[in-house]
Amino acid sequence: MFEDYKNSSLPIERRICALLAGMTPEEKVGQMVMGAGSPERARQLIQKNFIGGYLHAMGEHLAEIQRCAESTRLGIPILFGVDAIHGHGLWKGATIFPTQIALSCAWSPVLAETMGLITATEVRATGPQWVFSPQLDIGRDIRWGRLGETFGEDAFLAGELGAALCRGYQGNDLRHQNAVAACAKHFAAYGDTVGARDSTDSDVSRKKLLNDYLPVFERVIAEGCRTVMTGYQTIEGIPCTMHRWLLREVLRERWEFNGFVVTDWDTVGLSVRKQFIFQNVVEASAAAVLAGTEMAMTTEGFFEGVLAAWRKGEIGTGTVDTAVANLLRVKFEVGLFDDPKKRYPLPEREEIIYCAAHRKAALETAVASCVLLENNGILPLRTPPKKIAVVGPNADDLFAQLGGWSIGAPQGEFADPIHPRERVVTILDGIHSAFGEASEILYAKGCNAMHGTDKVADFFLPHQPVGYLDEPEGGIGEALRIAEESDLVVAVLGDTQSQVGEGNDRSDMRLGGDQEVLVAALQKTDKPMIVILVVSKPHIIENILGAASAVLCAWNPGSEGGHAVAALLKGEINPSGKLTQSWPRSIGQQPVHYDQKPGWHATRFVSESAEPRYPFGFGLSYTSFAYSDLQTDKETYHADEAIRVRVSVKNAGEVDGDEIVQCYVRDVVRSEVAPLKQLKGWAKISLAAGESQEVCISVPVASLGFYNGEGEQVLEAGEFLIMVGPSSENGQLLSKTIAVTTAANHETTEGNTI
Ligand code: NOJ
Repeated sequence: MFEDYKNSSLPIERRICALLAGMTPEEKVGQMVMGAGSPERARQLIQKNFIGGYLHAMGEHLAEIQRCAESTRLGIPILFGVDAIHGHGLWKGATIFPTQIALSCAWSPVLAETMGLITATEVRATGPQWVFSPQLDIGRDIRWGRLGETFGEDAFLAGELGAALCRGYQGNDLRHQNAVAACAKHFAAYGDTVGARDSTDSDVSRKKLLNDYLPVFERVIAEGCRTVMTGYQTIEGIPCTMHRWLLREVLRERWEFNGFVVTDWDTVGLSVRKQFIFQNVVEASAAAVLAGTEMAMTTEGFFEGVLAAWRKGEIGTGTVDTAVANLLRVKFEVGLFDDPKKRYPLPEREEIIYCAAHRKAALETAVASCVLLENNGILPLRTPPKKIAVVGPNADDLFAQLGGWSIGAPQGEFADPIHPRERVVTILDGIHSAFGEASEILYAKGCNAMHGTDKVADFFLPHQPVGYLDEPEGGIGEALRIAEESDLVVAVLGDTQSQVGEGNDRSDMRLGGDQEVLVAALQKTDKPMIVILVVSKPHIIENILGAASAVLCAWNPGSEGGHAVAALLKGEINPSGKLTQSWPRSIGQQPVHYDQKPGWHATRFVSESAEPRYPFGFGLSYTSFAYSDLQTDKETYHADEAIRVRVSVKNAGEVDGDEIVQCYVRDVVRSEVAPLKQLKGWAKISLAAGESQEVCISVPVASLGFYNGEGEQVLEAGEFLIMVGPSSENGQLLSKTIAVTTAANHETTEGNTI
């Protein structure tokens, strides 16, 4: 009976059937529409189109829209989504965590899960029940504007961290007040568009998808992620939103996903206007729904288009009903129908957001994310210098420090444009509070991170204040003046929000504006210089390396970044972050990810090495770790077993520290060319000075297989090289060979399908 959908004691599937049976075609298709904009716009969309989803509405704005939805005939609540991808970034004053690439450098599922939980808690306090995160694109080319939103270049690491983040968002029970539905995006291969040009074509085969870009999604879907967002781009010419194989065969059939698929912003409309593959939105809407898309983000005419195609018989009733059932299922699961509190912002909002516990977690994450790239022994600063000159565009810059998708980011269209100054500890603030008692601190910005003439994406309006790119007072001359009278220069360099994100790909990845000129001028003072990089992604820093006694990459470290950096400089905490994206020497090296396939002529370029400046997995510490005695529990394994890899690690230095022990595997001879190493496990350990530990990493043999040209998963019997060490760099890895003799079914095989 129709009213059964209101009965919370009935199983969700029964409630879905009851509700579907009482819905008009318009009410059904309306659930498939996601709107955006003012409450007035929302009211129109609810009354005309019965919309089911809304994005970027929060607080009172959200409450007003929800009340309007509740007053409709069926009163189906709206599911509100928001881009909260490293903290609730679009909410003024929220706790901002380091960006995803930064987080990944901590190699810590625990920190990722905590970030997810805290983000969900703050998001829920302001109303939404859904976050558009985790971002599961694999980092390929640093020119891409969105590289910093990824977990870096390794699919295994990204899968584990994405799964942890998803656990944090969703918890064990989506009905919990602090749980939000997660969204795995951007499905799929969005990180590999040609030439790093955002939203163009990913020219990748199915085999490449299966081997390189889908496993990360499979991992996060297996973790229970309830929604998936399609990528903007095409894959071999087919928009992800219309990619039937991806959305139906892979996602639904192979992975048995029963949540829902949402498009990215207007991808249905863009397939007509920008990709030119449909005559009109009716055709495009039909193609999207037939391919397996269930909710369209903001496409004008999608509602009418789906109804028209349905009436013409181009889309069957079964297809629409299944799509709506998938959407309603998630709404029931998050408790929207049963718990009025779950529909609205929480009254205790102010006590929740930016509370001490959240700030503490943001600090811990920022500390663990920083990667020490260079150190000639100047760090840690055990004796405070008398005078410190803090210079550079990112020393005291909220926007750069908070990073993409936070207030000031172009996408924060509906957010309040200014994040409260007192809720960001800039690097300058951090240095003041850590060294201010013993040292005199001078500050001059010196120059901007970009030139005022640089063109940024014009489809968004960055919310940075007018005058943001005006020449800083005193310019480079002032920075030099304070450097001259100081004992130490701390140069805080990097990029700013307007140089990153959608539409902001870069063709030159050297530090922007006059930063190289600033460093060259400072170098002439002969003062020791520590460079702190506040960057969204790796940059080409060859021209400044000679001037720096130490380089610490802090990424976009979030609200507590200043305290984190200062604690590391002081040596209160030992740096432990390791790179998750190979750091190139020149832009021409792109792509330079560690797991490329081998050849023989590509070992160097005419003018430089083909090796990155800093390899994947690299990061310095104030201590050193010695690896020895690599062992495995056996010599020969079946396909359904796990290899237990053991290695002894000793803290051979004088200070305590954390180490990220990495395990790579190579299939010694494979019938298809394979990467020379792939990360298959890691362990993060803490060792007191002088302490040793036997570290155990378990590698499932099944994870050593691959997809062949027929799309079958294959594990070939034979030898595998196990490599363990502090980074992916060959010279640092201990290695040992093991053999795989049989497949999972214990039959002897030379290439069994798993
Ligand atoms: C644009 C972005 O590509 C996506 O990541 C985001 O979640 C949506 N639009 C919503 O803002």
